[in-house]
Amino acid sequence: MVKKKVFVCRRIPAAALQRLNSEVDMTVWPAELPPSRAELLQHVKGCDGILSLLSDRMDAEVFQQAGPQLRVVSNYAVGFNNIDVREAHSRGIRVGNTPGVLTEATADIAAGLILATARRFSESIDQVRNLEWKTWDPLGLLGLDLKGATLGIVGMGRIGMALAKRMHFGWDMNVIYTARTEKPDAESLLNAKRVDLATLLANADIVSLHADYNPSTHHLINSSTLAMMKPNAILINTARGGLIDQDALYNALKDGTIWGAGLDVTDPEPLPDDSQLRRLPRCLILPHIGSATIETRQAMADIAVDNLLAGLHGRPLPHEVRP
Ligand code: GLV
Ligand code: GLV
Repeated sequence: MVKKKVFVCRRIPAAALQRLNSEVDMTVWPAELPPSRAELLQHVKGCDGILSLLSDRMDAEVFQQAGPQLRVVSNYAVGFNNIDVREAHSRGIRVGNTPGVLTEATADIAAGLILATARRFSESIDQVRNLEWKTWDPLGLLGLDLKGATLGIVGMGRIGMALAKRMHFGWDMNVIYTARTEKPDAESLLNAKRVDLATLLANADIVSLHADYNPSTHHLINSSTLAMMKPNAILINTARGGLIDQDALYNALKDGTIWGAGLDVTDPEPLPDDSQLRRLPRCLILPHIGSATIETRQAMADIAVDNLLAGLHGRPLPHEVRP
């Protein structure tokens, strides 16, 4: 039997790749940086399946170039805003993602950003590195207390819930949240209250974003929503950069509309060299490492390969995304 042809858009953990390699005719993009658009279009030609990353835009042009035999696009991520799912569906191409396994690792990064932003880790580390640490300073690098603060979760899904648990049980935080539907678990376990976005922004000391990124949530955080936040509030984003209007965030941090921000995601990624945001002391930025633990990336690879193989063999995907 002729083996199915697969393009893997970057090296992913080895065990899963070996498993895939034993079943299909696989090409793995070998470079550290993603394939360019032209390289991507070239490599998908004739493929039955594609294992994509969030940096690879999967749209009609890619599906067209691949050809009508393309059966499945398996995203190595829980988010899938890089994929035109509707277009894929209309062509009978299944789309997979990797939910669940990265929940705890991403919630850890959100929790870390809360602590690091409130206690000014970034400026503190710079001070030590740059030989600017002169003395124990009674008025230096003062941050914010966290115990008993109000945590606002925008989009109470799995990751939001995992963060809320950490902060409620660890730091006695009160939890408020937005979601399309009430979350009985959050209400009973954490005494969390569902509110509208305006109420959340007005009351939260920490606003943490966990919403899907799509046209309806583009720049959900903008100059008017930032203006609703408390002057001592911290904004955390571990979801997608496009949820925030970064120019508005820059201005809000600069003029003290809010206190600080901790971001694991930006738009674009990486930030351009001349981005003003990177130079703000109260803006702590990580290079999108939410799921970056050894165990989590292996688990994501296993799911991505399972989704891909299922799609190639016409079986239901273990984790399928539908329009
Ligand atoms: C990473 O951001 C993901 O969506 O898995
Ligand atoms: C992602 O897995 C989420 O539901 O937050």
